[in-house]
Amino acid sequence: MYRTKTCGELRAANIGENVTLAGWVQRVRKMGAMTFVDLRDRYGITQLVFDTETSDELFEQANQLGREYVIQACGKVRERFSKNNKIDTGDIEILVDKLTVLNKALTPPFTIEDNTDGGDDLRMKYRYLDLRRNCVRSNLELRHKMALEVRKYLDSKGFLEVETPALIGSTPEGARDFIVPSRMNPGQFYALPQSPQTLKQLLMVAGMDRYFQIVKCFRDEDLRADRQPEFTQIDCEMSFVEQDDILQTFEGMAKYLFKEVRGVDLGEQPFLRLSWHDAMKRFGSDKPDMRFGMEFVELDDTLKGTGTFGVFNEAAYIGGICAEGCASYTRKQIDELTDFVKSPQIGAKGLVYARVNEDGSVKSSVDKFYTPEVLAQLKEKMGAKAGDLILILSGDNAMKTRKQLCELRLLMGQRLGLRDKNRFALLWVVDFPMFEWSDEEQRLMAMHHPFTAPKPSDIPLLDTHPEQVCADAYDMVCNGVEVGGGSIRIHDAELQQKIFEILGFTPEEANKRFGFLMNAFKFGAPPHGGLAYGLDRWVSLFAGLDSIRDCIAFPKNNSGRDVMLDAPSIVDEKQLDELCIALNLPTE
Ligand code: AMO
Repeated sequence: MYRTKTCGELRAANIGENVTLAGWVQRVRKMGAMTFVDLRDRYGITQLVFDTETSDELFEQANQLGREYVIQACGKVRERFSKNNKIDTGDIEILVDKLTVLNKALTPPFTIEDNTDGGDDLRMKYRYLDLRRNCVRSNLELRHKMALEVRKYLDSKGFLEVETPALIGSTPEGARDFIVPSRMNPGQFYALPQSPQTLKQLLMVAGMDRYFQIVKCFRDEDLRADRQPEFTQIDCEMSFVEQDDILQTFEGMAKYLFKEVRGVDLGEQPFLRLSWHDAMKRFGSDKPDMRFGMEFVELDDTLKGTGTFGVFNEAAYIGGICAEGCASYTRKQIDELTDFVKSPQIGAKGLVYARVNEDGSVKSSVDKFYTPEVLAQLKEKMGAKAGDLILILSGDNAMKTRKQLCELRLLMGQRLGLRDKNRFALLWVVDFPMFEWSDEEQRLMAMHHPFTAPKPSDIPLLDTHPEQVCADAYDMVCNGVEVGGGSIRIHDAELQQKIFEILGFTPEEANKRFGFLMNAFKFGAPPHGGLAYGLDRWVSLFAGLDSIRDCIAFPKNNSGRDVMLDAPSIVDEKQLDELCIALNLPTE
């Protein structure tokens, strides 16, 4: 038997017992005639003691141990002389009488500690060592607990877990597909699912009634802190439901998970519901961070045409936020904010500010263009008090300017300490538009996905003003992160055909790609709808992480590479030949 106990379970009650432990050497401390070894495994750390009194040979053996050696130690549990209340096993130690080195180890390229000296790239290359660190391992434990509770909750509500294939045809979710060549069908490709969207709808046609799956999805899109090319959804679908039924079910699930996994009681109150239009108007985002206010105030009436500032007079939108207590910002701090909004990622032309002095007077960067009366009106409209700083952006595209102001709001929220990771503000964003115009594609695109149902009252608008049609679509947002999204689906072949038409598909194209779904709808499709949560995002929120990478065992880096496996990589000529693939790489 390799071990009788783990490194995390011995307590004072075990004093006097003979035990065998196995694990990794975290640290060796040599103190004269005694050597202390911290032995670590997944469950904790236990102190081993070797002394010359027991055996000189054993003592020598212990002194040869290096960091991360895998060892087995037998000995007696005894009370520790100087207790360590930072670890659960801190009351005891093991006086070792037998030591076996199970495997030696090279010196690790970084320290296996919470505060490691390893940079991101190094830790990713040696991810198996990174995963030995407590803080990374505990994220995986949280993830496990989360998946377990998800299954418990959904099972208790009658959901059936059904696996769907990973080699399928394209399922449009707004990203590019990862494609897989088929050897048996030369020149043809599978697509990895961006989500199991169409398959779960087919399961509803099949009468499964309530489906879920904890499932890998694949999207070839630009990566960010909350995006991986390969991520996990808690994918769900229900039959004979309206939007309210779905929101209630999954709000219940969010509350359950908060309680069981995070120990937070979100109370009985239903989540706030904000229409997409209101969210964009008040926060410039379809995933507003509601941990703090700092709502947008539209200033067109106050600042457009009421002075000689050309930029505002020509703007399509002028909006401001009020940063409480920031009037004392220095020139340098204001310059930093200006540089931030003018950076290429944000793209604003400039930043106008107005300080409200202690005497209530207003001092702004556009003083010379406006009368003191107009500036006083500005203060009033913004609801600003003495000591506040008003920050204003304008632009010729209202939506773009709102998105820029949103970034500034988030930055100010961060600076003012209003984005506490231990506070959670959840809401539903509802009533998304059905379509959005894509400049790149020069056509309307589905804002959620093409299988989303329009609000029944808006169906007549599909023929005349499709851009005004609202969808029965919703996102759940927590602390500025979209943690889930879904919709009521179209279950009528004709309506689905019409949506494809609006999206620019010819009937032949639509039939070729999605005929299987429209055909299925002709065989008795129930009204249905659903939602998918992003499991990685939930776990990283619960763990207070900055990136979802930290809760994924083997994540990709920002260029979509697995640096440990060195993937993607070149394949053999022979493999390509078998697949009838010839490469046509761009010349440098
Ligand atoms: P959607 O595209 O909104 O909807 O995805 C659902 C949820 O999945 C998470 N998510 C991601 N997480 C990590 N990395 C990514 N690249 C990534 N992309 C999305 C988000 C998001 O809210 N089939 C629909 C769902 C439905 O209509 O039922 C869908 O996939 O948390």
